[in-house]
Amino acid sequence: MARRRPRLRVLVSAGPTRERVDPVRFLSNDSSGRMGFALAEAAARAGHDVVLVAGPVALATPKGVRRIDVESAREMLGALRAEWRAADALFMAAAVADWRPARVLAGKWRAKDGGARRARIDLVRNPDVLATLTRGRRDPRRTVVAFALETGDGERRARAKLRKKGADWIVLNGPGALNADTTRLVVLGASGVRIAIPERSKRAAARDLVALLRHGDVLAAS
Ligand code: CTP
Repeated sequence: MARRRPRLRVLVSAGPTRERVDPVRFLSNDSSGRMGFALAEAAARAGHDVVLVAGPVALATPKGVRRIDVESAREMLGALRAEWRAADALFMAAAVADWRPARVLAGKWRAKDGGARRARIDLVRNPDVLATLTRGRRDPRRTVVAFALETGDGERRARAKLRKKGADWIVLNGPGALNADTTRLVVLGASGVRIAIPERSKRAAARDLVALLRHGDVLAAS
């Protein structure tokens, strides 16, 4: 009889976060959530138990995936923190906003008739969700995959993020991946290994990334 592979408890974050300015406005970014949703789908198809923590996106929940919707970075941290305790792996694909308005206006921000030509929004730093979860350290019992969107030569910066955030792998993509169907990736491992994944659909790339959970040790040693 074929031996069943152990199911892993896989946590995935996806999409942008929204940081409220007032009841009808927010700061956010162009993330569509597609890479994270593709990862959740690929992980579920590979037989894992998947929890998907999603920022505001217009995507259907993949089959067999438990989804938790959040809006802001702080809500995302709260949801991930609760789920991370029981998880074996994390794909941190969400595009978390680094800043949020220092205050959220209770009523609508009005232009008024004073003739002002400038206004400003004071921003404060959001928590680094991933570094908070890992406390900046790798845990040999679990696999953490971070993502980095870099312009220009981002590999050096991505390596620094890999260390700072306590991740085992960091997946590097260019700004062309935002809101696109396909992506070209470079995956950097904490061991120093570098894997290039040529341009392919996000669904196909997601299958390759999910394979890191089972074959990552072999790849890192090769
Ligand atoms: N990330 C996070 N919390 C944040 C910002 C980013 O958890 N407040 C995570 C992202 O989900 C991603 C990784 O950290 O997995 C790298 O994100 P990126 O935006 O590239 O890095 P930053 O830490 O925001 O650094 P910078 O803005 O300087 O590029």
